[in-house]
Amino acid sequence: MTRTLILIVVVGLGGLLAPVAAQDKPVVAMIGTGTLGDTFGPAIGRAGYRVVYGSRDPAREPVRALVERTGSKASAASQREATANAQIVVLAVPRKVLDDVTDNLGELDGKIVVDVSGGLKRVAADGYLELVPGKTSSERIQSRHPTARVVRINLPLMAFFVDPLLVGTPPTVLIAGNDPRAREAVAQLIFDLGLDPWDAGPLRFSQVFDAMSTMGLVPAQQGRIEGYELRLMPSAPLSCFTDVSALFGFGRPKELDSLRPFPRRDQPIPCDEWRRRLGW
Ligand SMILES: NC(=O)c1ccc[n+]([C@@H]2O[C@H](COP(=O)([O-])OP(=O)(O)OC[C@H]3O[C@@H](n4cnc5c(N)ncnc54)[C@H](OP(=O)(O)O)[C@@H]3O)[C@@H](O)[C@H]2O)c1
Repeated sequence: MTRTLILIVVVGLGGLLAPVAAQDKPVVAMIGTGTLGDTFGPAIGRAGYRVVYGSRDPAREPVRALVERTGSKASAASQREATANAQIVVLAVPRKVLDDVTDNLGELDGKIVVDVSGGLKRVAADGYLELVPGKTSSERIQSRHPTARVVRINLPLMAFFVDPLLVGTPPTVLIAGNDPRAREAVAQLIFDLGLDPWDAGPLRFSQVFDAMSTMGLVPAQQGRIEGYELRLMPSAPLSCFTDVSALFGFGRPKELDSLRPFPRRDQPIPCDEWRRRLGW
């Protein structure tokens, strides 16, 4: 076994063998107790996290019932209080109130703020949807709250929070954000839910999420009885065969030295194996 291979195996196993103890898991504020919060919150609770729902009316009966379904560590409070008590804040509110709600959450300094909202769409001349150009919601929230650590994720259909193996293999959840530690924390959460996190790099790549989710509506607009989830499959890494940076003149990401691997269920296929499969 080459040294590189040993390193890959050790690093990979580290992700599998070092589960975060329940008491070390960050507290998650689920802001909004509607359609998404009602499924996402209990799933996060089942994964062993303490969930605090942030609601305009935390005492009302449906919110109490939701807290009960989320587990013994769950609670509900005002949106501000929930935020103050959490390290990860999920914005599970309608897109049209996203800015107002986020602006009223109080101090967000250092908190991981998770945006799940899709881009603003309109119908183009050909009848298909198109994205309204401009910043994504996540980029806007980040610029309005520069000291928050905004992370954007592309959510699968909510049914996968209930059963991540609904189709036999979990969907891939893309994670973008400017702070690598924040991306890692959200990756661990996604992994703990039984889904597969994937590092999409800085927050500007949330533009791609919006483009993909708009494109994902094409089958629905065409009336096709088809639904899809994003699932990235392994492929041969170019870096196994060439010095990619030298070949394409890529820059070197400034965060590179501090990046840690995301948790994963299956080990990456080593370069030797790719070379063998491709006959190199
Ligand atoms: N991936 C999926 O399958 C999926 C499914 C559904 C939604 N989503 C996404 O999740 C996000 C939330 O959607 P949703 O359907 O859950 O929204 P929703 O049910 O319409 O509302 C969510 C919650 O936001 C809070 N809220 C509503 N208006 C508010 C206001 N003016 N000020 C403060 N809080 C307000 C309410 O909680 P309280 O009454 O407790 O304050 C409400 O229950 C959206 O970005 C949506 O696109 C994804």
